[in-house]
Amino acid sequence: MSETSQTGATDPVAEAMRRRDRTDFLPASQRAAAERDAPVPIGHEQTNSQPSTVAAMLRLLDVRPGQHVLDVGSGSGWTTVLLGDLVGQAGWVLGVERVPELVASARTAIERHGQSWVTVRRADPDLLGAPDHAPFDRVLVSAEAAELPGELVDQLAPEGVMVLPVAGVMTRVARRPSGTAITRHGHYRFVPLLSGP
Ligand SMILES: C[S@@+](CC[C@H](N)C(=O)[O-])C[C@H]1O[C@@H](n2cnc3c(N)ncnc32)[C@H](O)[C@@H]1O
Repeated sequence: MSETSQTGATDPVAEAMRRRDRTDFLPASQRAAAERDAPVPIGHEQTNSQPSTVAAMLRLLDVRPGQHVLDVGSGSGWTTVLLGDLVGQAGWVLGVERVPELVASARTAIERHGQSWVTVRRADPDLLGAPDHAPFDRVLVSAEAAELPGELVDQLAPEGVMVLPVAGVMTRVARRPSGTAITRHGHYRFVPLLSGP
């Protein structure tokens, strides 16, 4: 059955979050916390993000079936799999993550969820994002940048959209033929987006 809003329209974000149980992406010691609307530690000083924040970011991102999506800071792999549902089998999702142990555990979780069109790899410490696979229709960044990273804006396709926290403010960047439209959507706290070795 599809998730529907009060107007009767389907809500793909709510449906993906219902289908992809957060518990599967948490370490065994943290699974009891899965139901809480709060960030949950996943080891290596990193967290699986708060579900209401993830939902808000995915709605801002407005992912469509068939798109190519980059998930920067894939962490536990939960957002990567949610993006996998939103693009469907005709799309493609690449997650990049700095911590090798998290890359390994996310790969295992993604495999369990059977999404062959979703992949995770270790982030190159000298490069932000994945310029070798750009351009992307959508870019989700789950770590906080001090300022808008031009390298990631450059990896957006024409008409592409990126959602990321910048200096504590959720920021949506939309590439348009006339330039880049930037809108701001409230205050959030995230782990830092690291750059450099
Ligand atoms: C809030 S956590 C993970 C959230 C994740 N989307 C999830 O669902 O579990 C953010 C992640 O960003 C990673 N990170 C920080 N800087 C990064 C960078 N430059 N490239 C890739 N990953 C990065 C951290 O290691 C951390 O795992």
